[in-house]
Amino acid sequence: MIIAFTSPRKGTGQTVTATLATLQLTLKRSLNINLVDINSVRDIEYYLNDTPLARSLDEFSLLVSTKALDEDTFKRKVIKEVVPGLFMTSAPEQFVITKDIAEEFTNYSGRLFDHTILDCVSGAQRNSTPFYEHADKIVMVVTQNRRLLTYVEELQEYYKNYKDKLIVVINKYSDNIHGYGIADIKKELKDLGLDVPVLTLPDTPKVIEESNDNNLKSFITKSGPKNYIDALDVVLDTLLTEVE
Ligand SMILES: Nc1ncnc2c1ncn2[C@@H]1O[C@H](COP(=O)(O)OP(=O)(O)OP(=O)(O)O)[C@@H](O)[C@H]1O
Ligand SMILES: [Mg+2]
Repeated sequence: MIIAFTSPRKGTGQTVTATLATLQLTLKRSLNINLVDINSVRDIEYYLNDTPLARSLDEFSLLVSTKALDEDTFKRKVIKEVVPGLFMTSAPEQFVITKDIAEEFTNYSGRLFDHTILDCVSGAQRNSTPFYEHADKIVMVVTQNRRLLTYVEELQEYYKNYKDKLIVVINKYSDNIHGYGIADIKKELKDLGLDVPVLTLPDTPKVIEESNDNNLKSFITKSGPKNYIDALDVVLDTLLTEVE
């Protein structure tokens, strides 16, 4: 399955959520995942404390344009294993992602991995939009912030195209924020024409600690609190429900 993570704004925790979801699927469910960074800041590498050797979407675009792409060159030049069973492809720095490149990339990655998880850029950025069409599911990460939904409203027409495969995750969620909980957010989304599954991931200081230490792997294997891991499992079970 191809799963795209997106957000109406920067800073919602989208990359950390995509990375923790990937680690949970790899380390706890023994699946092979390709985690793809579409954001040129290359923050996934940082969170996984990885080597600087990049295998990126630029290499992929180059292989396509020189007609040198096959399964062998894809494995050697486009992906690298960063945790056993967890591969990644870094963001493009030079090439612009076209519809054809996005289609071909998701074909290759889709064939080689159980799941491909794309960390797209917030909003409707041009390198990300070609991927949404090829995604089986899109996870929109938001926070419990009224202003954030005004950005969803601005992008409403755009998100509506994908509402059949959209799931909303309210990240850094707390029951203590009075008068603006999951029911209110669900209703506002519905009023915007987005009657989609809405799930939550709790506000968890340990997430900040482990991401500052660039060691999200140990959050999954050791330090992550049960309420976060359980909520993450609910998100993953919802996501991996087969699409018709
Ligand atoms: N559930 C959570 N609880 C507490 N803090 C969190 C949670 N999820 C993410 N964070 C924190 O939020 C901050 C931003 O996370 P992240 O880098 O994933 O944001 P982003 O949405 O990818 O940002 P950008 O749009 O700039 O790429 C980090 O410090 C991270 O540790
Ligand atoms: Mg990010």
